[in-house]
Amino acid sequence: MQDILTINDLSKSYSNGFEALKTINLRVAEAEILALLGPNGAGKTTLISTICGISKFTTGQITMAGHDIVRNYRAARKMIGMVPQELALEPFETVMNTLRFSRGLFGKAPNDAYLEEILDHLSLLDKRKTQILELSGGMKRRVSIAKALSHEPRLLFLDEPTAGVDVELRKDMWLVVEACVVME
Ligand SMILES: Nc1ncnc2c1ncn2[C@@H]1O[C@H](COP(=O)(O)OP(=O)(O)OP(=O)(O)O)[C@@H](O)[C@H]1O
Ligand SMILES: [Mg+2]
Repeated sequence: MQDILTINDLSKSYSNGFEALKTINLRVAEAEILALLGPNGAGKTTLISTICGISKFTTGQITMAGHDIVRNYRAARKMIGMVPQELALEPFETVMNTLRFSRGLFGKAPNDAYLEEILDHLSLLDKRKTQILELSGGMKRRVSIAKALSHEPRLLFLDEPTAGVDVELRKDMWLVVEACVVME
C-alpha cells in the first residue's frame, strides 16, 4: 500500500523550552489503522496537532499524500479529519448543520446524501435535526466523528474518542471505525 503520511525526524519544543517530540519518524499506509500508545503527557496530542497544523513543529518534515504540510498546507489539511480529545461542538447548532458547516469550511460542495450516510453509520440519522445540547455525551462523541468525516478526508485522527464513554459504547465505536474504513 502507498504511504498516506510520512513523518521525518520531527521534533517539537514548546515556547517554554519543553521538548515534547524528539526525532519522530513514522509512515502510515493508505487504509492502515494505527494506534499511538503512551502515558499521559507522552506527546500524542502534540503529534496529532503538528500534523493538523494546529501547532508548529520545530524541525523535521511532514508529508501528507505527497503534499508538504507547511508549504502546501491547505491541500494537505483538506485530506485530514480530526476528532479532538476535547469536544468542540457548537451547542445551539443542529447535528446536520454542524456537518454541513464543517464540510463547507473545507471548500467541499454541499452533499446532504453523503452526510446522511455518515450519520446512518453512526446511528445518528434520527438526530439530524436535534441541537447538540440535547444529545448525550456518547452521542456528542459520535457527532464529533461524523464532523471529522464530513469533508471526505483520506486520513482520520481519533484523539482518545472513547475516553469517558461506557464499555458498550466503546465497543460500538470500534465497529464505527471499521465501518469507516469499509466506507472509504
Ligand atoms: N502549550 C503547551 N506549552 C507547553 N507544554 C505543553 C503544551 N501543551 C502540551 N505541553 C506538554 O507537552 C507534553 C505532551 O502533551 P500532550 O498533550 O501531547 O500529551 P498526550 O500524550 O496527548 O497526553 P494525554 O494522554 O494526557 O492526552 C506534556 O508534558 C505537556 O505538559
Ligand atoms: Mg492527549
